[in-house]
Amino acid sequence: MSTTLPYALRALERLRHRIRGPQTVRRLDTFTVDLSAWKLSLSDRTPCIWVHSHEHLNLPAVDLAYAIRDVVRQQGWEHTTVLVLVDGTADELRQQLSRLFTTQFVIWDAKQQKEIFDASSPTRLMLDLFLEQIPRAQLSPYETSRWVTGSRFFGRSSDLKKIRSRPSNFMIFGIRRIGKTSLLREVERLLDEEDPPTEGSRRHVYIECSTLQTPDDFYREVAAKFQAPLKLFLERKAQSFRNATKMFDYLASEQRGQITFLLDEFDRLLEYTQHNLDFCTVLRQASQNKRARFIMAGFREMRRAMYNREHPFYNFGEPLYLEALERKDVAEMITQPFDALRVKLDGREEIVSRIFRETAGQPLFVQFYCQTLLEQLDRSEGNVISINDFQSVYDNTAFRDIVLTTFMDNSVPLERAIVFAMVGVQDKHEREVFTIEDLDAELKRRGLVVTFNRLDEACRNLDTANILRRQGKAYSFRLPLFVRMLQENYSVEFGFKKARQEYMAQDGETRR
Ligand SMILES: Nc1ncnc2c1ncn2[C@@H]1O[C@H](COP(=O)(O)OP(=O)(O)O)[C@@H](O)[C@H]1O
Ligand SMILES: [Mg+2]
Repeated sequence: MSTTLPYALRALERLRHRIRGPQTVRRLDTFTVDLSAWKLSLSDRTPCIWVHSHEHLNLPAVDLAYAIRDVVRQQGWEHTTVLVLVDGTADELRQQLSRLFTTQFVIWDAKQQKEIFDASSPTRLMLDLFLEQIPRAQLSPYETSRWVTGSRFFGRSSDLKKIRSRPSNFMIFGIRRIGKTSLLREVERLLDEEDPPTEGSRRHVYIECSTLQTPDDFYREVAAKFQAPLKLFLERKAQSFRNATKMFDYLASEQRGQITFLLDEFDRLLEYTQHNLDFCTVLRQASQNKRARFIMAGFREMRRAMYNREHPFYNFGEPLYLEALERKDVAEMITQPFDALRVKLDGREEIVSRIFRETAGQPLFVQFYCQTLLEQLDRSEGNVISINDFQSVYDNTAFRDIVLTTFMDNSVPLERAIVFAMVGVQDKHEREVFTIEDLDAELKRRGLVVTFNRLDEACRNLDTANILRRQGKAYSFRLPLFVRMLQENYSVEFGFKKARQEYMAQDGETRR
């Protein structure tokens, strides 16, 4: 195959980057290259267009630019970085492409390609050539607004290994924004590579369940994903499923194999179906019959089901608790991209330690630190980051908002009451470590009496939610900045009062 590849791709192939193609699109040869190992924004299918025929090399630059543009549109590559390899000169083409179109092109001419091919470190040279043509912020892998996969996904390697090497079901537990969707999507991407879906054979599917209210909604969603003939399973009158187990049999035989269902946000569906467990029994049966395998993500409801002996989900799968990232993963998330982007970290170990400590390893917070630091660097057009630059992160209101909403989203009223009470005490006595007894005394002083069980459970949840850290009998806050953020944004007294009110109202309801 190698002789039919352009020089730059031959260099990449030698370094074991996966190359797919050529595919001829509008008479131009196109490829995709897996550049995800660079841990930048470049994906495992970075598009590449090869300009090498006489026909194209002899075109006026502006016409060639339009021909390239048509390929980009046809392939839907407008919003990714597109590599253009020209077996000739490319100065004029470069000007035309940047003048005419907003798509981000990286263009290498024949000379540059040859240099890459002959370089002692082709990777370093390619990265530098990328950096010459694309702004750093655009090449960076940091992403704070949606789930991440591939080159943007860091850590969790033992979780991925477990899920991929064992045939069992998995229940993934984790608070909001800890990375459940990212993990499921990464598993989906890996399964796509291993067992690519084709027409008529698709053995894994991702389903977002947060908007589904009933089992029928769920089955309908599944049928739609597989374009299965719904009427085979629907009870005409009630529009209800006659025999859902049959649907799983049907799908497994149609798609020629057991199907892996990646079910995200499963808590809501469990809540809706708590008084009728048939749905969960159907899933259990499908799994026992080896028609389906389930990898589901949730938190409180799923945990309740999994540990309830009466529930069909009791011991249904292997539990997997998603926690914060380990230090070495956080270190990778910081240093790999910054090194590739030629950013110098002045006091490398100290920077890593500081970010790890201040974010408690929460991936989203680490992303915020890195992104903010990089944006600041781009503004100042510098190349060095040091501890002194961290103030820009502390001043970032978006970061503060995300820390506080994450706390609000991840806690129930009693947990919030505990946190506000702790902040109050910390303020007054400058103490940073608390026992359950201290907490109990403080809550009582504030007129809130809670049973030991509830208090203990709440503290454990706050530990799981990455807000408190438990060491033996003692608790302390995990994020050093968190207390300051709370104090700056809320009146601690008011926060406590509201949380107590909500807790009491809720407590009244459960007693009724
Ligand atoms: N493995 C990871 N590597 C890098 N960033 C991650 C990872 N997991 C999560 N993140 C960051 O956290 C954010 C929230 O992740 P997401 O998967 O949406 O969480 P959840 O589904 O648990 O709410 C992402 O936008 C991303 O910035
Ligand atoms: Mg999610």
